[in-house]
Amino acid sequence: MKNKTVFVCSECGAESPKWSGKCPECGAWNTLVEETVVQKPEKTAKKISSSDFSAPLKLKEVTGKEEVRISTGINELDRVLGGGIVKGALYLVSGEPGIGKSTILLQLCEKLGAEIPILYVSGEESPKQLRLRADRLGVKKDDLYLLAQTDIETVCEQAAEQNPGLLIIDSIQTMNHESVASTPGSVSQVRECTSALMRFAKSKDIPVFIVGHVNKEGSIAGPKVMEHMVDAVLYFEGERNSEYRILRAVKNRFGSTNEIGVFEMTGEGLKEIGNPSAVFLQGKPSDISGIATVCVLEGTRPIIAEVQSLVAPTPFPAPRRVAVGFDYGRANLLIAVLEKRCRMFFGTSDVYINVIGGLKIDEPAADLAVAAALASGLKDFVIPDDTILIGEVGLAGEIRAVTSLEKRVAEAKVLGFKRAVIPKRNRTDFHTDIELIPVDSIKDVFNLI
Ligand SMILES: Nc1ncnc2c1ncn2[C@@H]1O[C@H](COP(=O)(O)OP(=O)(O)OP(=O)(O)O)[C@@H](O)[C@H]1O
Ligand SMILES: [Mg+2]
Ligand SMILES: [Zn+2]
Repeated sequence: MKNKTVFVCSECGAESPKWSGKCPECGAWNTLVEETVVQKPEKTAKKISSSDFSAPLKLKEVTGKEEVRISTGINELDRVLGGGIVKGALYLVSGEPGIGKSTILLQLCEKLGAEIPILYVSGEESPKQLRLRADRLGVKKDDLYLLAQTDIETVCEQAAEQNPGLLIIDSIQTMNHESVASTPGSVSQVRECTSALMRFAKSKDIPVFIVGHVNKEGSIAGPKVMEHMVDAVLYFEGERNSEYRILRAVKNRFGSTNEIGVFEMTGEGLKEIGNPSAVFLQGKPSDISGIATVCVLEGTRPIIAEVQSLVAPTPFPAPRRVAVGFDYGRANLLIAVLEKRCRMFFGTSDVYINVIGGLKIDEPAADLAVAAALASGLKDFVIPDDTILIGEVGLAGEIRAVTSLEKRVAEAKVLGFKRAVIPKRNRTDFHTDIELIPVDSIKDVFNLI
C-alpha cells in the first residue's frame, strides 16, 4: 500500500500533481489543497463490485416497482422535489452557513407522516442542541432518533439495523471514512462518504438527505464534488439581511429543475410562502423613478417581482455597474442597447440594479422591465404603478416573444395590475381583463410611457 499526495480542488474536485494558485479545471482561485491518497485496501474494492448491481438485466426483466413518492407535508418543498421524496433517492441540501439547512430538515421530520421513523445523524451539533432547536421549531415527533456520530460506516450500520423511513446526514463535511487518510471535509473524504451513503440508499431503498456546506474558500470540499453522485441537489438561497429563503432544485433526476420554493425565516422556523408575488411586491414605492415590475416564470409558477435601478451621476471616469439578482453581463448589454437604439447615455453615471426580495432573475422575459427601470432611472420618469412589463430585448432593440404569456398576464391580474406591456410578436388569443399593450421595439415603449 503506497500513499501519494495530490492537490485536489475543493470547489470541483479536480486533481493535479502540483500546486497552483488557480484550479486548471474550474478556474477557481486558492482552492487546491494537498491530500494524501491512500490506495484502497483490496477488501473495500471487492465490496463495491459485488454489490447488488451485478449481472446485466434486460430492461423488461427489471422488476417494475413503481416510483413511490412520499409527500413531505411541506408544499413548497414537495414542489421543488417534483412531488415528494422518492424511495432510495439521495438528496443533497446545500447552502451557505446559517441559511436554514438544519432547520428545514428538522421541520421536515415533523411534517413527514407520523408513521415514518427518521434517523437524524448530526456531526455538528449535540443531541441537546438539536433538542433545543426542535423545541423552538415545535417539532414533537415521536420516533425521531438523534445520533451524534461522524464515522460513516457506523452510521450506515446503525441505520441498517434501525431501518428508518428516512436518513438525514448533517453534514457530509463532518463525516469520516476510515479507509481515507485525509481529514473530514476534504474532497476524498466527502467523495467516499457520499458513495457509502449512495450504496446504503440504493441497497436499502431508504431515502437519504445529505447536508452539504458551501464554503467560498478554505479546504472544505464544496457541494460540486458531490453533485454528480446524488439524485437531486437542492440549493438554499437568500440574502443575508432578508428573511426570505428560496429553495431551488439545480439537479433533479425525479422532476423539473426549474421549480422554486419560497420560505420566510422566523423564530419558529421556516414558513411557507404560497404566494411569493404578493410578498415581493410588498412595500413597493410608488411615484418614484427607476422602478419597474416584471413577471418571471420559475418552473411552472409565475412570480412577480420589483426591479429597481439607481442611475446616479459620477465624477469618476469609470462609472460603476452593479447588478444584484440580475446577470451582470445582461445588464451591460441592456445598457448598450439603450445607448445605441434609444440614445440614452449612461457613460457618466453609476448604475445600480437590484431585484427585491433576494430573488435571482435569469430569464430573458425580464429584459424589458430591467431596461425600463434603467431608462426610468436615467430620465427620471415614473413607470405607472399598475403596469407590468414583459418581454425579451434583442440587440436591435426589438422586443421578442416570451413563453407562457397568458400565465404571466393572469398572475398580474390576480395582483391587481391594470396594464401589461407585452411583445407584439406574442399571440394574444386568450381572454384577459387587463389592458394589453403590444410593443415592437424598445423605442415604442418609451414613446408610450
Ligand atoms: N431564535 C431564533 N429566532 C429567529 N431565527 C433564528 C433563531 N435561531 C436561529 N434562527 C435562524 O436560523 C438560522 C440558522 O438556521 P440553521 O441552523 O438551520 O442553518 P444551517 O444552514 O443549518 O447552518 P449551519 O451551516 O450553521 O449548519 C439563523 O441564521 C437564523 O436566521
Ligand atoms: Mg446546520
Ligand atoms: Zn476546480
